[in-house]
Amino acid sequence: MEKMSMNSNLIFGAGSIDALAAFNGKRVAVITDPIMTKNGVADSATGLMGCGKEAVFDKIEPDPTLEQVAECCAFVESLNADIVVALGGGSAIDTVKAVVLVLLGKGRKVYFVAVPTTAGTGSEVTNYTVVKDVSVGRKIPLSDDRMIPDMAILDYTLTKTVPKTVTAFTGMDVITHALEAYVAVNASAISDAYAEKALRLAFANLHDAYLRGDEDTPRENMMMASYLAGLAFTKAGLGICHSISHALGAAFRIPHGEANAITLPHVIAFNSGLDVPFGADKSSSAVRYAEAARIIGLPAAGTRLAVQYLVRELENLNNKLGIPKTLMQLGINSADFKERRAGIIESVLKDGCTAANPVQPDAGHVGKILDKIFG
Ligand SMILES: NC(=O)c1ccc[n+]([C@@H]2O[C@H](COP(=O)([O-])OP(=O)(O)OC[C@H]3O[C@@H](n4cnc5c(N)ncnc54)[C@H](O)[C@@H]3O)[C@@H](O)[C@H]2O)c1
Ligand SMILES: [Fe+2]
Repeated sequence: MEKMSMNSNLIFGAGSIDALAAFNGKRVAVITDPIMTKNGVADSATGLMGCGKEAVFDKIEPDPTLEQVAECCAFVESLNADIVVALGGGSAIDTVKAVVLVLLGKGRKVYFVAVPTTAGTGSEVTNYTVVKDVSVGRKIPLSDDRMIPDMAILDYTLTKTVPKTVTAFTGMDVITHALEAYVAVNASAISDAYAEKALRLAFANLHDAYLRGDEDTPRENMMMASYLAGLAFTKAGLGICHSISHALGAAFRIPHGEANAITLPHVIAFNSGLDVPFGADKSSSAVRYAEAARIIGLPAAGTRLAVQYLVRELENLNNKLGIPKTLMQLGINSADFKERRAGIIESVLKDGCTAANPVQPDAGHVGKILDKIFG
């Protein structure tokens, strides 16, 4: 039996941040990162809600930690806020998700509004957050439907200031969400519908958003793709590309989307059996990847060829977006990699995303994938 609820309100389109005016006069807390204060977006948000700078916590850093969640929680409690607005990328939204859960544990329900400024993690619609436990050096994914924002405001104009590298990384995160959801163990016709549209939009628009970030159409389409891919994986689950990316992010501080982009071609080869002679002709995930290749318009007759085209398309896209092929090219040295390799494998096998992968890997499989990623 499967269960699905879609009870968050969605407001989207250019200028939709104005919807925050509905909270004017309420007790509000805005959780954001320093860039949103610098570029004036935090001020616009507080202006719309009729509150001052004292309602803004702008210390969110990439990859939230348990300490950051605790600090943020204390801030929301100090304001006795009823409405919490997360304004930023996945890091701001994920922090607030964890805060919402902690407050629920204390018997307090806040109304949670997510305003993403990257496209993105899809965190504005997912039941999933990733928090880093610095004491053990691990990024821990948690999922709970009670963390799904009550309202998501998708104003793509906010993403026009995203720097090129962040556009590339977050866009590859979108593609990874859609592809992992498409082959995940719980994929269904419903999650497929979201994943397929996300794939079409992202492959057609990511490079344009990267080259011409101030244009409306690519930014709007990437924001929609991000939301749809978030819906897809919140229904279907992710896979070991995310498990590996969480572990690499924690070990070497590689941005989430960049780690996914480097890892994804190798995970597709493993899942589909492309690295085994005739493997990709037989495996059921190979058939799904071949379908995904056709959805994005790649010419592909047989299954194996289609999967090979998909892998090549991803490698070409990474290249056009300036994303390196290996960890070595990122400057990670071999001694560091060797020292952490066993810990990374252990983390990947324990990660909550691994269970949704279409093929259950063992330590040897993960090690082989990691060695390829290292280069
Ligand atoms: N909850 C989920 O469903 C989910 C899914 C995937 C990833 N994640 C997590 O989300 C985090 C990554 O989020 P992200 O990729 O959105 O990046 P981010 O939130 O860490 O932001 C990356 C950088 O971009 C800057 N930035 C954000 N918006 C901007 C804008 N409009 N203009 C200029 N600069 C801007 C930020 O200040 C930051 O320096 C990771 O911790 C990852 O593990 C969560
Ligand atoms: Fe992701």
